[in-house]
Amino acid sequence: MTTNYSGKCIVYGGGGFIGSNLTGLLLERGYEVCVFDKLNFSKKNIEEYLDRIKIIEGDFYNEADLKNSLAGADFVFHLVSSTIPATSNRNPVYDAETNLISTLHLLEECVLQKVKKVIFISSGGTVYGNPETVPVKESQYGHPICSYGIIKKTIEDYFFMYNKLYGLNYNVFRLSNPYGLKQSPHFAQGAVAVFLYKAIKGIPIEIWGDGSVVRDYIYISDVVEILADSLTKDFNEKVFNLSSGKGLNLNELIEKISGVLKFKPDVRYSPSRNVDLKVNILDNSLVRERFKKVPLVSIEEGLKLTAEFLKKID
Ligand SMILES: NC(=O)c1ccc[n+]([C@@H]2O[C@H](COP(=O)([O-])OP(=O)(O)OC[C@H]3O[C@@H](n4cnc5c(N)ncnc54)[C@H](O)[C@@H]3O)[C@@H](O)[C@H]2O)c1
Repeated sequence: MTTNYSGKCIVYGGGGFIGSNLTGLLLERGYEVCVFDKLNFSKKNIEEYLDRIKIIEGDFYNEADLKNSLAGADFVFHLVSSTIPATSNRNPVYDAETNLISTLHLLEECVLQKVKKVIFISSGGTVYGNPETVPVKESQYGHPICSYGIIKKTIEDYFFMYNKLYGLNYNVFRLSNPYGLKQSPHFAQGAVAVFLYKAIKGIPIEIWGDGSVVRDYIYISDVVEILADSLTKDFNEKVFNLSSGKGLNLNELIEKISGVLKFKPDVRYSPSRNVDLKVNILDNSLVRERFKKVPLVSIEEGLKLTAEFLKKID
């Protein structure tokens, strides 16, 4: 049986790490792709696709920009966030005013414009709060301890509501810790990119706490495969953990990095932060069962690919 990969996709936040990797795969599969990102956003991540995509520059938090950009879209990927977990508690009002309100406008417009499906990236690292057990299953009810997680969880609930009330089709992916090509090492989110980059450039790596914090790292090509597959697959379940299902602590990550780079990076330890959960590992059995795909790229292989990418950037 052949799958019909056709239709117009709009990727909100398509110039970023996940969006640009996704854009490449959607093009490969034959979709028409429109990238929506900020005014004058850097085209570096998507430069190889520029002759094959439509670009819209605008503000996701502006209702008119949203409405106009959506015209004619069959599929929508919502990959925009104004906040990150570590800093979102500094201004929860801003978090809600930007991320929550704009998503409600998006949902309204998707219903009006009869969009076929909307894909939203939620956060497996924050919506569960301090999980009762790990690996965490989708059914575990969480109490997020940062505004970012509360807003992501609330947005998930609105997706559920719009589906029930208006039949809007959607999937939510609670992503763990993605890493790989095109992730900026200059942002605070993404330990792999930051640590690898610093190691390569000979800059000391700062670890908050004693390095025992455990995370679940997934390589970016494994992430975008599932995101793209979700356009042609519908299940009773709408919400999926998207992760490797394996935990690695920060000290182990440094060891793996040493193995790939063949030298020991300079690591300094500082006091832990109260937003960091001790352990976060997501149970990925549902996504594996439904999508019939397993994460293919091992941490060693993923680190090698990422190191090659980071060596070429300033
Ligand atoms: N990277 C992670 O570790 C991770 C983990 C879990 C969930 N997520 C979620 O995945 C999504 C994508 O993350 P990413 O890592 O690719 O982020 P990113 O910062 O690399 O990309 C986001 C893109 O959105 C654009 N953007 C931001 N505000 C905008 C606005 N007002 N109007 C138009 N464009 C705007 C940015 O310019 C950027 O290109 C986000 O919703 C994030 O919360 C990321």
